[in-house]
Amino acid sequence: MIRKDIRIGLFGFGVVGQGLHTVLARTPGLRARIGRIGVKDRAKPRPLPAGLFTYSRHDLLQDDSLNVIVELIDDADEAYRIVTEALRRGKAVVTANKKMLAEHLPELIDLQRQTGTPLLYEAAACASLPVIRNLEEYYDNDLLESVEGIINGSTNYILTAMHHDALSFEQALSQAQALGFAESNPALDVEGLDARNKLVLLLAHAFGLVVAPTQLLTIGIDRISPLATAYAKEQGYALKLVAEARRLPGNGSVAAAVLPMLVKPEHELARVQDEYNGLITQSSFADRQFFLGRGAGAFPTASAVLSDLSALTYGYRYEYKKLHQQAHLALAPSAAELEILVTFTDAAAPNEADFRQLHEQFRSGTRGHYLTGTIGLERLAQAAWLRAPGICVVRLPGPLRAAPAAAE
Ligand SMILES: NC(=O)c1ccc[n+]([C@@H]2O[C@H](COP(=O)([O-])OP(=O)(O)OC[C@H]3O[C@@H](n4cnc5c(N)ncnc54)[C@H](OP(=O)(O)O)[C@@H]3O)[C@@H](O)[C@H]2O)c1
Repeated sequence: MIRKDIRIGLFGFGVVGQGLHTVLARTPGLRARIGRIGVKDRAKPRPLPAGLFTYSRHDLLQDDSLNVIVELIDDADEAYRIVTEALRRGKAVVTANKKMLAEHLPELIDLQRQTGTPLLYEAAACASLPVIRNLEEYYDNDLLESVEGIINGSTNYILTAMHHDALSFEQALSQAQALGFAESNPALDVEGLDARNKLVLLLAHAFGLVVAPTQLLTIGIDRISPLATAYAKEQGYALKLVAEARRLPGNGSVAAAVLPMLVKPEHELARVQDEYNGLITQSSFADRQFFLGRGAGAFPTASAVLSDLSALTYGYRYEYKKLHQQAHLALAPSAAELEILVTFTDAAAPNEADFRQLHEQFRSGTRGHYLTGTIGLERLAQAAWLRAPGICVVRLPGPLRAAPAAAE
């Protein structure tokens, strides 16, 4: 527990780091101040006195007067070095770096156990939405059935701008970057990888499942075709990037994936606009709940970092209780199926034999072709045609569900 004042060693002074500086200045109730700031670019002008900044991580990590490290840099490998050394030195850590967390979650859980030092990361999943601590604590004794939602702010901003303001994909992406919503590497957002990294964190705290990011089928918004957009419009659906993790009935299987999805207008996620995130939890006793809030940006993200700093003052740490409580659960894509729309051209087509059922087929010389059908999640993930140029896969409305063989 941090009994005395919090003296922060802050790594990163970009969008979120500067946001945190402002937020701390306006939060006099929390006795926390930034003692030193580690950054990278010596040529960059800084809005604070030069003496506060350093370019060597050792200056922060070896400074015994700094009792908390806040890691807000955009380099996951360096972040891992910083976070692990800080924990080994007994310094509590707060981070927003979902890529680093998702790639190293097992080691980081072990290191927290070995060192007894807390690592908190509320800002790493859905920015301002208090998701991790709720999954960890509020749903501790309630059986969670699913978490699903829009968990990447920049892609939701892009999809909203394309739909409402008729911007091109490139125009919408540069607006998201200018507003500080996008990752430094835009591929992380538009290829769905950022949402996948957050889904790894949600799986750990919702179901006690620690999986590698590569185990999750992930399709981003960079491959959405004009025909898929037109189909969505004609049917009156919203097009969203949706992450879902669902416990399937019966056998302890959990299915999880990130895909663009057609959402009915009356669904909660259809009204999640701009950089907002929305997460729906479904659980046995609490039933259906919907979290809505800003999923990116300086202050919303800094507010979650602030909340973690405050939690350190009362000795809070993640206990990862579900890792033991839910040891019978396993990620099982072979047990799940979903409904999809596939648009394609003459150059490459989906293999119809991969589908359990085909529902609709459409061919046009001018607009391209599409089919809709039911397919196994694992079969889709392994399909050779999935990543072929000109192929676009979008989920139709409806949850991931147990495949018939698995449901028997
Ligand atoms: N932006 C958001 O809305 C948002 C939301 C949730 C989570 N996050 C996460 O928060 C973190 C920071 O994002 P951001 O948007 O604030 O990024 P950013 O604006 O690009 O700022 C990155 C900062 O990291 C510093 N940095 C990079 N490599 C470094 C290194 N090797 N050593 C020391 N400092 C280094 C940079 O230093 P210089 O100033 O010298 O260039 C810069 O100050 C990322 O992990 C991101 O995924 C961001």
